Amino acid sequence: MSKVAVIFWSGTGNTEALAGFIGDGVAEAGGEAEVIQVSDFDTSSLDAYDAFALGCPAMGSEELEYDEFEPFWNEVKGELGDKKVALFGSYEWADGEWMDTWKADAADAGVNVVDTLICYDAPDAEAEAGAKTLATKLV
Ligand SMILES: Cc1cc2nc3c(=O)[nH]c(=O)nc-3n(C[C@H](O)[C@H](O)[C@H](O)COP(=O)(O)O)c2cc1C
Repeated sequence: MSKVAVIFWSGTGNTEALAGFIGDGVAEAGGEAEVIQVSDFDTSSLDAYDAFALGCPAMGSEELEYDEFEPFWNEVKGELGDKKVALFGSYEWADGEWMDTWKADAADAGVNVVDTLICYDAPDAEAEAGAKTLATKLV
């Protein structure tokens, strides 16, 4: 069974809601999901997972959240090997440029990104369906 870590930062709950849908989708697809706030994730446990969904909203000026999520990302991006990784998050002020930058950074680091999902504000039914589809690619 594929064990998937869904690791996220969320200030107002939108990315957290997406993380929950991804966790549900992993379970529905027959995998095992752990949905974890980034501040609670022990980076020494990366080996315990087969795949990762990493979530962070657009913060700063089209950037990852700098206090907790960006340091986490910089620590793990070179350690993920060829494990499947999906990136997701919510945005509100622009058109999703932060995800383009994040994807490019992941490609530079050799991360095996199998899917990405961006969602305007709080996830609606379409975003929920997208989160479930993304989850199936990790299982
Ligand atoms: C300090 C701050 C910076 C933000 N910067 C951006 C940004 O650069 N681009 C954007 O589209 N949205 C930006 N937003 C909006 C958030 O990405 C949006 O509200 C998102 O839904 C928050 O997700 P969360 O509920 O998971 O925290 C910013 C919000 C805050 C509070």
